[in-house]
Amino acid sequence: MTLATYSFALPTRIEFGEGVVQNVGKEARLMGAGKVMLVADKGVIKAGLTQAVEKSLKESDIPFVVFDSIVPNPRDKDCHSGYELAKQEQVDFLVAVGGGSSMDTAKAIGVLLTHGGNIKDWCGFQLLEREITPLIAIPTTAGTGSEVTPFAVVTDSEQHIKLNVFDPKAAAKVALVDPTTLLKLPSHIMASTGIDAMTHAVEAYTCNVANPHTDAYALYAIDLIERNLRKAVTAPDLESCRGMMLGSTIAGIAFGYADVAAVHCMAEALGGRYDLAHGVANAILLPTVTEFNLSSDFEKHANVARAMGLNIAGMSTEDAAMEAVYGLQRLCEDVGIPKMKDIPEIDPADFQALSEASERNVSTPSNPRPITAKDYLELFKKAYTI
Ligand SMILES: [Fe+2]
Repeated sequence: MTLATYSFALPTRIEFGEGVVQNVGKEARLMGAGKVMLVADKGVIKAGLTQAVEKSLKESDIPFVVFDSIVPNPRDKDCHSGYELAKQEQVDFLVAVGGGSSMDTAKAIGVLLTHGGNIKDWCGFQLLEREITPLIAIPTTAGTGSEVTPFAVVTDSEQHIKLNVFDPKAAAKVALVDPTTLLKLPSHIMASTGIDAMTHAVEAYTCNVANPHTDAYALYAIDLIERNLRKAVTAPDLESCRGMMLGSTIAGIAFGYADVAAVHCMAEALGGRYDLAHGVANAILLPTVTEFNLSSDFEKHANVARAMGLNIAGMSTEDAAMEAVYGLQRLCEDVGIPKMKDIPEIDPADFQALSEASERNVSTPSNPRPITAKDYLELFKKAYTI
């Protein structure tokens, strides 16, 4: 389904290309930065990915403090510790370098600097009262799309569920999207984050709040990711990294301004409970849930297969739609995603609770086929047998 009436605006300016990361100091200066908090995880810092950022900030005479206590699936309390440091250091500008965890933590710190309270108070749809502290986002993985999305995902440390600050006021002001940051990414991270990006594109395109603009972004991203992910995982070069970085940013726009759907509802339930890599959680569910959704709109799912470049000539629309499921399954296998049943943390005894958590996810109503906790339970069970 594609909405007939909608509005579309992007609050984030995108600067794309090799070396754009070196412009961060100039950009921050132009935007009036007084003191910057550089939000980056220890792995990103150790890999040397913040060096160019620090050099650029120094050349622009912008003082900065580093916050590196970033964890995967950032929890409310992790965001609050960053906020305390930002307050103490009188920070008025944020630069995030990393994957979704760093960028989402930075957005949450920005929310707290401008709104106070508990981050959980600001989780929900368009609850912010003003724009957050200006943020420049620099992705170092090709998956999350957080550099262009209007939300921050935070894990509630008491209830073990993922919450979402969903508001264009939380978006980065500028995204510096530099494909060279991907060249040394470990292959298993390229694989899982790449499938996350593919999931964003497929769900944005097929969900029931898609609009013609997000459809255009989603189909373009599906094509880019299908053509570049295998190469980016097995033998990354500038061309495949460029394709993946474009694919994930463009998919980020698609789902940021449409939505995700049941795959993410289930993946976020898994991530809230087990601290599983988000991309892997999506990947182990993507083919099963896509098959469940086919009947909602065979034509759109056939278009997914077409965008993936699969050979659907002469097929019925239903068969062509099913090819999308097979194609997604092949892509996950080719990039080395493990089977759900081979992931030791996942315990089928938790499927009931996970299904209920999935149903409570704010994106459940966006799934193209109506879905309940009972359906989610069947899907968890089915995905576990593959
Ligand atoms: Fe995702």
